[in-house]
Amino acid sequence: MEKLTVTLGERSYPISIAFGLLNSPDAFLPLKSGEYAMIVTNKTLDSLYSTRVKSTLTKMGVKVDEIILPDGEQYKTLAILDTIFTALLEKNHPRSTTLIALGGGVIGDLTGFAAACYQRGVRFIQAPTSLLSQIDSSVGGKTAVNHPLGKNMIGAFYQPISVIIDLDSLKTLPVRQFSSGLAEIIKYGIILDYDFFCWLEKNISKLFEFDEKTISYCILHCCELKAKIIAIDEKETNGQRALLNLGHTFGHAIETELGYGSWLHGEAIAVGIVMAAKTAELIGQFDNNDTKRILNLLRQANLPTKGPAKMAAEAYLPHMMRDKKVVNNQLNLVLPKSIGNAELYTNISHEVVLKAIKQCLHTD
Ligand code: NAD
Ligand code: GLY
Repeated sequence: MEKLTVTLGERSYPISIAFGLLNSPDAFLPLKSGEYAMIVTNKTLDSLYSTRVKSTLTKMGVKVDEIILPDGEQYKTLAILDTIFTALLEKNHPRSTTLIALGGGVIGDLTGFAAACYQRGVRFIQAPTSLLSQIDSSVGGKTAVNHPLGKNMIGAFYQPISVIIDLDSLKTLPVRQFSSGLAEIIKYGIILDYDFFCWLEKNISKLFEFDEKTISYCILHCCELKAKIIAIDEKETNGQRALLNLGHTFGHAIETELGYGSWLHGEAIAVGIVMAAKTAELIGQFDNNDTKRILNLLRQANLPTKGPAKMAAEAYLPHMMRDKKVVNNQLNLVLPKSIGNAELYTNISHEVVLKAIKQCLHTD
């Protein structure tokens, strides 16, 4: 088993990575006999993984309940959050309860926010089951729901007490979802780690073949990169964590405009990364050959590299101006400088952004 720590003083927590962890009582420590837990999951994951989590917790003597939510990004809402609170109250869950997020990023973000709010804060464990949630969303304590006017706009920074990554769960993940996770993996290479980007260029086919050693290394490495960033900029205040948003200002515009769940998060981010690279090229900060390498890797990951045909270039900026990085009505964007190195640029001109977007649209 691989283990690492997100170092945040008293709120530090372990990330455990191995096959079969959902069956392991050790993975669920420090839960103990007599304590309450609520599994929060969706219909899809309930049929696949809830039985094993319940059985592990029951063996430990934990009193376990479950709430099963509908499946999809369109359910990452305040209304669904309320159903979690109702389930907790109906079952009399006390302040000492622990919520267990069993699912992808949608379940993780919802559960974390519910944990931050219920009785002003209870413990929660991330048990991520999608590739995207295992390498990104389960680590770092960003929790949120969507609003019709903007993605992840209502939420809190609230750290889990542990992250349990059972690699077995990837075996049932649909391949389109696997590709979606690869978008955030490629992002790490572009913003932080040139060697990892090169490693991905060499190993992408092995990832699709589900080569166990390759996939374990990839997930461990991404978690290490993210844990390092969280330790130095937990609440995105000094520019380090903001780098993780490469492509997100454009991508969130696509998700919001098309309706949540229409494009997968990773698909929107893939296009957003290309738009960011094009913007960086236009301001003379990025080499076109590096954009070509990024395009090539995204295509190998079966990800889109052009914006949706039904979204006009002019439709992006109104959404982008609601981005959380906007300050004093100025558009601030994470842009790559070279592969392995990115920066937060302030007050980017709308004309340049529009021009970059236009170069990344479907023309057919
Ligand atoms: P998701 O949670 O919708 O899961 C994708 C789909 O795969 C769902 O239908 C889910 O039921 C299914 N699924 C998950 N695991 C499965 C498995 N093992 N077997 C079969 N099916 C499985 O989407 P996601 O890509 O995991 O996460 C995207 C969400 O994460 C977005 O809402 C995004 O905003 C958020 N996110 C948050 C952060 C953060 O730091 N908090 C970071 C990145 C993304
Ligand atoms: N996924 C962006 C962040 O965690 O900050």
